Amino acid sequence: MNTLESIHARHSCRAFTNQLPSNEDLQAIARAAIAAPSAMNRQPWQVIVLTNQELIGELEAEGMKNLAALPDKSIYERIQSRGGRLYYNAPCMMLIPVKSADDRSELLDCGIITENIALSATSLGIDTLICGLAAFSFSGEKGVSFKKRLCFQEGYDLGIAVLLGYAAQSGGTPHEPDENKITWID
Ligand SMILES: Cc1cc2nc3c(=O)[nH]c(=O)nc-3n(C[C@H](O)[C@H](O)[C@H](O)COP(=O)(O)O)c2cc1C
Repeated sequence: MNTLESIHARHSCRAFTNQLPSNEDLQAIARAAIAAPSAMNRQPWQVIVLTNQELIGELEAEGMKNLAALPDKSIYERIQSRGGRLYYNAPCMMLIPVKSADDRSELLDCGIITENIALSATSLGIDTLICGLAAFSFSGEKGVSFKKRLCFQEGYDLGIAVLLGYAAQSGGTPHEPDENKITWID
């Protein structure tokens, strides 16, 4: 699959099988991630490839607990209506801690590395879900200990996570692109 084909084939997967992508593929995706450009080449990220199912389960339980404790229950209820799984049974997560989640260019860098992961995975036939809600696994009392167990560097916070694996049902499609978002000025 070439780059344009990967861009148009990528879509969010919200039901994964237990099948773990090969180590070779995960290494290729992690290398594609760190090939991403960054402002002033600061590379203000880490890429943590997590395949430990027990730890993914702990992160998921903590994330759901923290979402349930929010005054606004709408996100929690949305996930419950989709089966109650924040991580949709994904066998692998790539977590992207960034140096300072408050800095605009570092957040842009985080977005670019995320898309490198999603597109390289798609090109290898691996399904993905970009998961901003993963931040809720770190927002409560267990956040510090999770960061330690996951080898976050000092001063790094979770920017985003990408779930990877194989879709339980084939045939998922991307959102319908809105052509009105494009303006031509000749
Ligand atoms: C920064 C970002 C964060 C996202 N976080 C979540 C998330 O936490 N959970 C989820 O189910 N989808 C999440 N998504 C997926 C979007 O909902 C999805 O990309 C969008 O609906 C378009 O659908 P598509 O990816 O199938 O084209 C996220 C996407 C982006 C770009």
